[in-house]
Amino acid sequence: MELTEEHITSNLGTTIFGRRIISFKSIKSTMDYAKSLAERDEPEGTVVIADYQSKGRGRFGRVWMSEPGKNILMSIIIRPSIPLEKFGLISFLSAISVAEAIEKIANVKVNTKWPNDLLINGRKVSGILMEASITADKGDFVILGIGVNVNQEEFPKEIKNYATSLLIETGKYYDRVALLQEILRSLESNYLKINQTYDFTEIMKKWKEKCSMLGKEITLIHAGKTINGTAVDVDSKGFLQLKVGESTISLSSGEVTIVK
Ligand code: BTN
Repeated sequence: MELTEEHITSNLGTTIFGRRIISFKSIKSTMDYAKSLAERDEPEGTVVIADYQSKGRGRFGRVWMSEPGKNILMSIIIRPSIPLEKFGLISFLSAISVAEAIEKIANVKVNTKWPNDLLINGRKVSGILMEASITADKGDFVILGIGVNVNQEEFPKEIKNYATSLLIETGKYYDRVALLQEILRSLESNYLKINQTYDFTEIMKKWKEKCSMLGKEITLIHAGKTINGTAVDVDSKGFLQLKVGESTISLSSGEVTIVK
């Protein structure tokens, strides 16, 4: 089914996520468009989706490659009422929500990798990008970018060993509308809970249960430096606890490669 506003809103059943959907055949990046809407007071839950992005981006300014019409590329406007210091945890909530939706639709096990990648059989099937716009001491809005590789048959050779899709992993094509709807439902149900309680304990527990890198040796690139260590834990703030020699360091961001 085509990714149109009409198809996606039919039987969606959410009240916030997807209350407005704006879809494009092609756009530079859904992130920038969603941000420009949020700056003009577009409500929380507005979704910008595209079949193709000519300048899709990932974390650390990397390119997000996706063939036209095969995958899910979306950005969602969120206006959280939670304290600013907890904003970063929304990316964990999003990772769990997308993982649960994929598992339901494709019946396949999804693992998390810090900070917010989703893997199937060790390869990345989804990436999440969170860009917050903060005013004075209170968070104004967050643009949540989600890319899910759904029906792409193959990936360029530079990323072939790291990237995968639901099609590659399960041998089946998926209705992107059905998966997108499930992601929006899952996001809404998890988000409504934390927006009332401000409590991410359950989310972090689920995230850790799905995490494939805890206890493993990793290489992490942080602020241009490469650090080798053992990933021990992720704390309640979402910081990675990395054991390096005899000490444990706490990291808020970085790019992880699992060594063994
Ligand atoms: C990452 O793993 O580095 C995050 C990837 C996020 C990609 C999505 S696709 C939809 C949205 N628009 C973008 O330009 N990026 C995000």
